[in-house]
Amino acid sequence: MKMAVVSYSLSGNNQMVAQKVAAGLGIEHIQLKEGRKRRALNTLVDIIFNRTPRVSPEPDVLAGYDFILLFAPVWMGHIATPLRSYLKYIGEQRKQYGLIAVCGGVNRNLKAKVTGYAGVEPAVLMELAIMIELGVKTPFYRLNSAEAERLADKVLAGLRGHFKL
Ligand SMILES: Cc1cc2nc3c(=O)[nH]c(=O)nc-3n(C[C@H](O)[C@H](O)[C@H](O)COP(=O)(O)O)c2cc1C
Repeated sequence: MKMAVVSYSLSGNNQMVAQKVAAGLGIEHIQLKEGRKRRALNTLVDIIFNRTPRVSPEPDVLAGYDFILLFAPVWMGHIATPLRSYLKYIGEQRKQYGLIAVCGGVNRNLKAKVTGYAGVEPAVLMELAIMIELGVKTPFYRLNSAEAERLADKVLAGLRGHFKL
Protein backbone atom coordinates (compact mmCIF):
# COMPACT_ATOMS: atom_id res chain seq x y z
CA MET A 1 0.00 0.00 0.00
CA LYS A 2 1.45 3.36 -1.03
CA MET A 3 0.74 6.01 1.57
CA ALA A 4 1.26 9.78 1.71
CA VAL A 5 0.84 12.43 4.38
CA VAL A 6 -0.98 15.58 3.25
CA SER A 7 -1.21 18.61 5.53
CA TYR A 8 -2.81 22.00 5.54
CA SER A 9 -1.78 24.32 8.34
CA LEU A 10 -2.40 28.01 8.97
CA SER A 11 -0.32 28.62 12.08
CA GLY A 12 2.07 25.65 11.85
CA ASN A 13 0.73 23.08 14.34
CA ASN A 14 -0.59 20.55 11.85
CA GLN A 15 2.40 21.07 9.58
CA MET A 16 4.81 20.30 12.43
CA VAL A 17 3.00 17.17 13.62
CA ALA A 18 2.46 15.94 10.04
CA GLN A 19 6.14 16.40 9.26
CA LYS A 20 7.15 14.26 12.24
CA VAL A 21 4.60 11.55 11.41
CA ALA A 22 5.74 11.45 7.76
CA ALA A 23 9.36 11.18 8.92
CA GLY A 24 8.40 8.43 11.40
CA LEU A 25 6.67 6.46 8.64
CA GLY A 26 9.33 7.31 6.05
CA ILE A 27 6.73 8.53 3.54
CA GLU A 28 6.19 11.63 1.42
CA HIS A 29 4.68 14.76 2.97
CA ILE A 30 2.63 16.99 0.66
CA GLN A 31 1.92 20.47 2.08
CA LEU A 32 -1.12 22.34 0.81
CA LYS A 33 -0.87 26.08 0.20
CA GLU A 34 -3.37 28.73 -0.78
CA GLY A 35 -2.60 31.48 -3.28
CA ARG A 36 -3.59 34.33 -0.98
CA LYS A 37 -3.04 35.06 2.67
CA ARG A 38 -6.01 33.75 4.62
CA ARG A 39 -7.89 36.08 6.97
CA ALA A 40 -10.59 35.22 9.53
CA LEU A 41 -13.25 36.70 7.21
CA ASN A 42 -12.27 34.27 4.39
CA THR A 43 -12.94 31.37 6.74
CA LEU A 44 -16.34 32.71 7.75
CA VAL A 45 -17.30 33.25 4.08
CA ASP A 46 -16.09 29.72 3.13
CA ILE A 47 -18.26 28.18 5.83
CA ILE A 48 -21.38 30.29 5.25
CA PHE A 49 -21.30 29.87 1.44
CA ASN A 50 -19.93 26.30 1.52
CA ARG A 51 -16.94 27.30 -0.63
CA THR A 52 -14.10 25.03 -1.72
CA PRO A 53 -10.90 27.11 -1.76
CA ARG A 54 -8.27 26.37 -4.41
CA VAL A 55 -5.03 24.92 -3.13
CA SER A 56 -1.77 23.84 -4.64
CA PRO A 57 -0.77 21.26 -5.50
CA GLU A 58 -4.07 20.14 -7.08
CA PRO A 59 -5.58 16.94 -5.61
CA ASP A 60 -4.62 14.78 -8.61
CA VAL A 61 -1.10 14.74 -7.12
CA LEU A 62 -2.59 11.85 -5.10
CA ALA A 63 -3.11 9.68 -8.19
CA GLY A 64 -0.37 7.18 -7.31
CA TYR A 65 -1.33 6.72 -3.64
CA ASP A 66 -3.71 4.22 -2.04
CA PHE A 67 -3.96 5.63 1.50
CA ILE A 68 -3.85 9.32 2.32
CA LEU A 69 -3.26 10.56 5.84
CA LEU A 70 -4.64 14.10 6.06
CA PHE A 71 -3.72 16.66 8.72
CA ALA A 72 -5.62 19.93 9.20
CA PRO A 73 -6.97 22.24 11.90
CA VAL A 74 -10.63 22.66 12.81
CA TRP A 75 -12.21 26.04 12.16
CA MET A 76 -15.60 26.95 13.62
CA GLY A 77 -16.45 23.28 14.09
CA HIS A 78 -15.49 22.32 10.49
CA ILE A 79 -12.35 20.75 9.13
CA ALA A 80 -10.26 23.55 7.56
CA THR A 81 -11.90 24.48 4.26
CA PRO A 82 -8.67 24.19 2.15
CA LEU A 83 -8.94 20.42 2.66
CA ARG A 84 -12.29 20.19 0.88
CA SER A 85 -11.05 19.63 -2.69
CA TYR A 86 -8.82 16.82 -1.40
CA LEU A 87 -11.68 15.15 0.49
CA LYS A 88 -13.85 15.33 -2.63
CA TYR A 89 -11.11 13.86 -4.84
CA ILE A 90 -10.38 11.07 -2.34
CA GLY A 91 -14.08 10.16 -2.27
CA GLU A 92 -14.45 10.28 -6.05
CA GLN A 93 -11.36 8.09 -6.53
CA ARG A 94 -12.53 5.71 -3.77
CA LYS A 95 -9.21 6.00 -1.99
CA GLN A 96 -8.80 5.12 1.65
CA TYR A 97 -7.93 7.94 4.01
CA GLY A 98 -7.35 8.93 7.60
CA LEU A 99 -7.80 12.34 9.16
CA ILE A 100 -5.78 13.80 12.01
CA ALA A 101 -6.96 17.18 13.30
CA VAL A 102 -4.60 19.04 15.61
CA CYS A 103 -7.28 21.37 16.92
CA GLY A 104 -8.14 23.50 19.94
CA GLY A 105 -10.87 21.63 21.81
CA VAL A 106 -13.58 19.04 21.30
CA ASN A 107 -15.76 19.37 18.22
CA ARG A 108 -19.18 17.89 17.57
CA ASN A 109 -19.90 15.72 14.54
CA LEU A 110 -16.49 16.21 12.91
CA LYS A 111 -16.54 12.67 11.48
CA ALA A 112 -20.01 13.14 9.98
CA LYS A 113 -19.00 16.49 8.44
CA VAL A 114 -15.81 15.08 6.93
CA THR A 115 -17.70 12.05 5.61
CA GLY A 116 -20.17 14.49 4.07
CA TYR A 117 -17.39 16.04 1.98
CA ALA A 118 -15.66 12.83 0.96
CA GLY A 119 -18.78 10.68 0.64
CA VAL A 120 -16.73 7.96 2.38
CA GLU A 121 -15.89 7.57 6.06
CA PRO A 122 -12.26 7.98 7.13
CA ALA A 123 -10.62 4.68 8.10
CA VAL A 124 -8.92 6.53 10.96
CA LEU A 125 -9.92 9.77 12.64
CA MET A 126 -8.01 11.34 15.52
CA GLU A 127 -8.85 14.70 17.03
CA LEU A 128 -5.86 15.96 18.97
CA ALA A 129 -7.33 18.77 21.04
CA ILE A 130 -4.37 20.76 22.31
CA MET A 131 -6.29 22.18 25.28
CA ILE A 132 -6.84 18.60 26.47
CA GLU A 133 -3.66 16.90 25.26
CA LEU A 134 -1.33 19.63 26.53
CA GLY A 135 -3.51 21.40 29.09
CA VAL A 136 -2.99 24.78 27.41
CA LYS A 137 -5.49 27.57 28.06
CA THR A 138 -6.15 28.73 24.50
CA PRO A 139 -7.21 26.87 21.33
CA PHE A 140 -4.87 29.16 19.35
CA TYR A 141 -1.73 27.94 21.14
CA ARG A 142 1.30 27.28 18.91
CA LEU A 143 3.10 24.03 19.58
CA ASN A 144 6.80 23.86 20.23
CA SER A 145 8.84 21.06 18.71
CA ALA A 146 8.75 18.81 21.82
CA GLU A 147 4.96 19.14 22.04
CA ALA A 148 4.59 18.36 18.34
CA GLU A 149 6.79 15.29 18.88
CA ARG A 150 4.49 14.13 21.69
CA LEU A 151 1.42 14.44 19.50
CA ALA A 152 3.20 12.77 16.56
CA ASP A 153 4.10 9.83 18.81
CA LYS A 154 0.44 9.49 19.76
CA VAL A 155 -0.56 9.47 16.08
CA LEU A 156 2.10 6.89 15.23
CA ALA A 157 0.95 4.64 18.09
CA GLY A 158 -2.66 4.95 16.89
CA LEU A 159 -1.65 4.08 13.33
CA ARG A 160 0.37 1.08 14.48
CA GLY A 161 -2.74 -0.14 16.31
CA HIS A 162 -4.91 0.42 13.27
CA PHE A 163 -2.59 -1.17 10.73
CA LYS A 164 -1.39 -3.85 13.18
CA LEU A 165 2.22 -2.80 12.51
C1 LIG B 1 -10.59 31.02 12.78
C2 LIG B 1 -10.31 29.85 13.71
C3 LIG B 1 -11.34 29.07 14.19
C4 LIG B 1 -11.09 27.98 15.02
N1 LIG B 1 -12.13 27.19 15.43
C5 LIG B 1 -11.87 26.06 16.13
C6 LIG B 1 -12.92 25.14 16.44
O1 LIG B 1 -14.08 25.32 16.08
N2 LIG B 1 -12.59 24.03 17.13
C7 LIG B 1 -11.32 23.75 17.54
O2 LIG B 1 -11.09 22.71 18.16
N3 LIG B 1 -10.30 24.60 17.26
C8 LIG B 1 -10.54 25.74 16.56
N4 LIG B 1 -9.51 26.59 16.23
C9 LIG B 1 -8.15 26.28 16.73
C10 LIG B 1 -7.29 25.54 15.71
O3 LIG B 1 -7.93 24.38 15.22
C11 LIG B 1 -5.97 25.16 16.40
O4 LIG B 1 -5.30 26.30 16.87
C12 LIG B 1 -5.05 24.37 15.47
O5 LIG B 1 -4.06 23.69 16.22
C13 LIG B 1 -4.34 25.28 14.45
O6 LIG B 1 -3.68 24.46 13.54
P1 LIG B 1 -2.59 25.04 12.52
O7 LIG B 1 -1.51 25.68 13.36
O8 LIG B 1 -2.11 23.83 11.81
O9 LIG B 1 -3.27 26.02 11.63
C14 LIG B 1 -9.76 27.69 15.42
C15 LIG B 1 -8.70 28.49 14.94
C16 LIG B 1 -8.96 29.55 14.09
C17 LIG B 1 -7.82 30.40 13.58
